[in-house]
Amino acid sequence: MSPLLSAALAARDHAHAPYSRFRVGAALEDSTGQIHTGCNIENSTYGLTICAERVAVFKAMSEGVRAFRRLAISADTETLTPPCGACRQILWEFCGDIEIILVNPRGKTETLRVKDLLPRAFDASYL
Ligand code: THU
Repeated sequence: MSPLLSAALAARDHAHAPYSRFRVGAALEDSTGQIHTGCNIENSTYGLTICAERVAVFKAMSEGVRAFRRLAISADTETLTPPCGACRQILWEFCGDIEIILVNPRGKTETLRVKDLLPRAFDASYL
């Protein structure tokens, strides 16, 4: 298994998901090959929960990284878990049409593109 997929699976171990018990990991590869990980972090108010994908993007951006290649997302589901709508918008705005690789702990994978997940996206070009 590639280091990116392994990192996404390992990132699930840090998930803070006491309410849903649904643990998600993310691993974002930047343009230099460095990997930035994230996990979902839930909150008792529920609405303040943040997804693994956004944690990974914001961690990387907060360290000055602005160019990305690929994102791996892990969850323990047979039908592989895709990013939620809010994360799709964030990914389009900050990562562009990168490759998204879904993975589960049994090594099942599926590769998608952000453009297909968020057709006709709203972005800064409309402002
Ligand atoms: N979640 C993610 O972290 N990423 C996704 O792509 C789907 C959903 C989280 C949010 C929440 O903590 C839990 O999974 C259940 O929705």
